[in-house]
Amino acid sequence: MPGLLDEIEPLKQAALADLKAAPDLAALDQAKGNWIGTHGRFTALMKQLGTLPKEEKPAAGKAINAAKVELEAALAERRSELELAAALPREPTDFSAPGRRRTLGKLHPLTQVTEDIVRSFRKIGFVVADGPEIEDEYHCFDALNTPADHPARDTQDTFYLNVGQASRLSQTGSENVGQASSLSPKSENQKSETGKMPVLLLRTHTSSVQIRVMEKQQPPIRIIVPGRCYRRDNADATHNPTFHQIEGLYVDKGVTVGDLKGTVEFVFKEVLGAETKIRFRPHYFSYTEPSFEIDFSNALVKKLGKDWLEIAGCGMVHPAVFENVGYDPEIWTGWAFGFGIERIAMLRYGINDIRLFYENDVRFLKQF
Ligand code: DAH
Repeated sequence: MPGLLDEIEPLKQAALADLKAAPDLAALDQAKGNWIGTHGRFTALMKQLGTLPKEEKPAAGKAINAAKVELEAALAERRSELELAAALPREPTDFSAPGRRRTLGKLHPLTQVTEDIVRSFRKIGFVVADGPEIEDEYHCFDALNTPADHPARDTQDTFYLNVGQASRLSQTGSENVGQASSLSPKSENQKSETGKMPVLLLRTHTSSVQIRVMEKQQPPIRIIVPGRCYRRDNADATHNPTFHQIEGLYVDKGVTVGDLKGTVEFVFKEVLGAETKIRFRPHYFSYTEPSFEIDFSNALVKKLGKDWLEIAGCGMVHPAVFENVGYDPEIWTGWAFGFGIERIAMLRYGINDIRLFYENDVRFLKQF
């Protein structure tokens, strides 16, 4: 009967072969368990050591220990081979292949112009405010002293929503000043004359945000409001049912038309070039008195064969507007303006069709 000593070598050889052949780390762990784990075959051999006669123990013990050291070394070696293989890329790398180009995104030209204008106003202490695009008639018109028979309120001129619940407003998601759900402070005024809930529409201008901000804050106020507006226009080279405006509002004591003109001049020179000139022409807006249209002139305008180009509406905030938001018009004075962002971007970049801004054709967009 072969002794324990004779079993060691063949068992070791079998274990070594098994460990070295393990194709992956999981198989290696499996093989480790089969041989030198608690219930492994080699471990069983070691357990038999105690049953040997005393004089055979030292030689057998020595041989088993030597074999065990060898098995553990083989295990460690195979493990590091397999770990390295697992860390290497599956596909070989071709270092001669051409590089893969990642195309960089860009800001939309309208965003670029908006950011330039905002940056310029920030320099002189204005902050950005924001309001809902789904508005009620009160904030878009009534509070701005625009009566019910004004042509801007014609259903042909803007988009009215087919719902009349205020709850809809709180879903517009605007978190900032002028959040639409703030129907509270002036809710009496916002009910239509019949006492029904507000009529909802897509705002025709950013001027509605003037009201929303003034309802929430006391003067002094210095805000600009970039935002999307809507009108029921058919799209052509100069019109689109969706477009963008920037509104400005300044309220304090002793504010004058001179402040308005100086501010507008500063910003336009920054955005359209130092040689830009502006002029004010008398106009009518129901929420300002006096009201003006702003024309500007520079090399771009001359290139179009014109001396002046109309760019914005503005004026001194009408006392009735202050009364609507609870400001005392005997104490507070202010100015406001609004202008279209597309117009400025078209001039700056020489774009002749407004629709190009909304088509999102990368061949157009990548030029800016
Ligand atoms: N809301 C006007 C429009 O959409 C522009 C405008 C004119 C805004 C005069 C104002 C203003 O704040 O005072 O055409």
